[in-house]
Amino acid sequence: MTDRPVWKSGVTLAVIAAICTALVALTFQLTAQRITDNEKAFLERNLQPALAGLFFDSPVTESRLTIPQPHELPGTESAIVYRVYASEEPVAALFVVSARDGYAGPIRLLIGVAMDGSITGVRVLEHRETPGLGDRVETTKSDWILQFDGRSLRDPEPGNWKIRGDGGSFDQLTGASITPRAIVKAVKATLTYFAANRDALFTAPADPVDDDSGDED
Ligand SMILES: Cc1cc2nc3c(=O)[nH]c(=O)nc-3n(C[C@H](O)[C@H](O)[C@H](O)COP(=O)(O)O)c2cc1C
Repeated sequence: MTDRPVWKSGVTLAVIAAICTALVALTFQLTAQRITDNEKAFLERNLQPALAGLFFDSPVTESRLTIPQPHELPGTESAIVYRVYASEEPVAALFVVSARDGYAGPIRLLIGVAMDGSITGVRVLEHRETPGLGDRVETTKSDWILQFDGRSLRDPEPGNWKIRGDGGSFDQLTGASITPRAIVKAVKATLTYFAANRDALFTAPADPVDDDSGDED
């Protein structure tokens, strides 16, 4: 053993390293597709509540459009839009945007808008609001966010897209008006963007399908 040349040990180590690298690469190849499929299924499931009552037959995640900054949607990061179709006709757009002025930071929102500009659903995807106060915007805590269903810039008029405490039409949350104020403002801005960009949104090419990172923020 003591006479074994150094180069032989080096070669042995190199072979072991090469085998390990090949094993890792193989494992990645085998699991990557499954991870992509799982992520897609997760997204499809989580997008559904914002499309309540809407018939569609397209895989939502395959029509993703990333809108980089600068844009006029709420939030300081890229916005994401999923285009939704029935028999290849556009029926709705699902926006992932951020209300930037929540009490404890940005509130990530999913906002579904039908072609006539009415809301199919709004859900909070991510937030850091206070438990018992701002977190009542989650559907598991209260029905507050359901009040957007079916509303549009015609109902109420744009000037009334405020919480009641500010003279508007939307219920607030007792002792926590900052969170609802931020969400009402973001939903209104999204509807305004949709009204101005509806046709362009549906003609823009989708993100590459195999781009599964989902983290454009
Ligand atoms: C520790 C702490 C946490 C709070 N968290 C929130 C919150 O998550 N959302 C919110 O709107 N207001 C929150 N507030 C309350 C705001 O400071 C503010 O008083 C409130 O939003 C005003 O609501 P009102 O107009 O109903 O009084 C919090 C206050 C404290 C002291």
